[in-house]
Amino acid sequence: MPTNDAPPYELSRDFARALDAQNPLRAHRELFVRDDATVYLDGNSLGRLPRATADRLATVVRDEWGRDLIQSWPRWLERCTTVADRLGRAVLGVDPGQVALADSTTVSLFKVLSAAIGLRPGRRTILIEADSFPTDHYVVQGLARQHGMRVVVVQSDIDGGLSPAQVEAVLSDDVALACFCHVSYRSGALADMTAITALLHARGALAVWDLCHSAGAVRTPLAESDADFAVGCTYKYLNSGPGAPAFLYVRRDLISECDQPIWGWFGQADQFAMGQTYEPVETIERFLSGTPPMLGVTAVEEGVRTIADAGIEALETGGRLLTGYALKLTDEWLAPLGWRVASPRPAGRRGAHLTLHHAAAWQVNQALIARGIVPDFRTPDRLRLGMAPLTTSFEDVWAGFDAIREITHQREYERYPAERARVT
Ligand SMILES: Cc1ncc(COP(=O)(O)O)c(C=O)c1O
Repeated sequence: MPTNDAPPYELSRDFARALDAQNPLRAHRELFVRDDATVYLDGNSLGRLPRATADRLATVVRDEWGRDLIQSWPRWLERCTTVADRLGRAVLGVDPGQVALADSTTVSLFKVLSAAIGLRPGRRTILIEADSFPTDHYVVQGLARQHGMRVVVVQSDIDGGLSPAQVEAVLSDDVALACFCHVSYRSGALADMTAITALLHARGALAVWDLCHSAGAVRTPLAESDADFAVGCTYKYLNSGPGAPAFLYVRRDLISECDQPIWGWFGQADQFAMGQTYEPVETIERFLSGTPPMLGVTAVEEGVRTIADAGIEALETGGRLLTGYALKLTDEWLAPLGWRVASPRPAGRRGAHLTLHHAAAWQVNQALIARGIVPDFRTPDRLRLGMAPLTTSFEDVWAGFDAIREITHQREYERYPAERARVT
């Protein structure tokens, strides 16, 4: 098994199969529902279904809901806490009591950003990176309007991502907080969380990290970097299914000082006293609002188990080997056909997806789907190829890149519309 991203790779399918045979994560792949007719390179949008989840959810529906009805609530509430803590430990590397499962990433982001604004009264600036995920921009813009603040957009590189120097250039004593993505959704560029958080803290600003594309794919140095807040989804690398609740992280010393904007009975100190006045708990549960989605929480429990069993270090290494292999295939096969790598090349600077640029990327994307290969397209002209370390094989990567090569070389993509239909 090669140990870095510049090994002496061979280009044959047999070589990909040999890499799979040696892959220590191989047995974990068997734990997921797979369909051999599909080459799935989009596990960074929606992770595969763990076999155990299908059975577990059937049991929860039949027994816990169907039979035990409301008497299930004590164990359901306990599950919310234990799953959040397990996610914190296995995925984020943080101690218990600092993670909650709630809402979507968007709503969780709204909650933690609101809390952060409240912790920095008098400061009027919010930083966000230009290539942040759109929902992050929208939440930041909405909050800035609500609080009479201004948004400063850090001009990061669309392929290279966000650098500490770019952040330093716009920092001032007026910055209340920054909302940055750890791994860029478009290019897969990995930001230096430790260096950037230190820069923010040195000017008294708070660091809020969006971990959607890093949780379950790479280590997230929240504890080492002393980051203040983080959010992320569970349906990508955490394999918890569509609509599973998001997670939010708040550093322990900040929790009881935080005021979040959606006050509800699940954050109330004595919930069943049914009092009329809101008095939030001192714990991370003060970030909760309403009834937790128990099917989703149970799916997160199974999804987190898949990560915990494999180990985040092994997954980070596995992802780097897969993307390193994909880089090699790109250089050998695709660069001569006009493809350009639109992700950082050093292994330590990327997450578990690789993005390629080509003028016909949208058409190639359609041609790949017609062949049973599932990539993703990202504007303006990029093919995004997710290599979820738990579920993607080297042979999947080989098959995907071989198809891109053929489709481009034979101009098969010309059969597909060049104009992107508006998705409603
Ligand atoms: C980086 C990033 N942030 C936020 C979101 C939005 O997440 P949600 O739909 O759970 O609100 C996504 C969704 O893909 C994302 O990739």
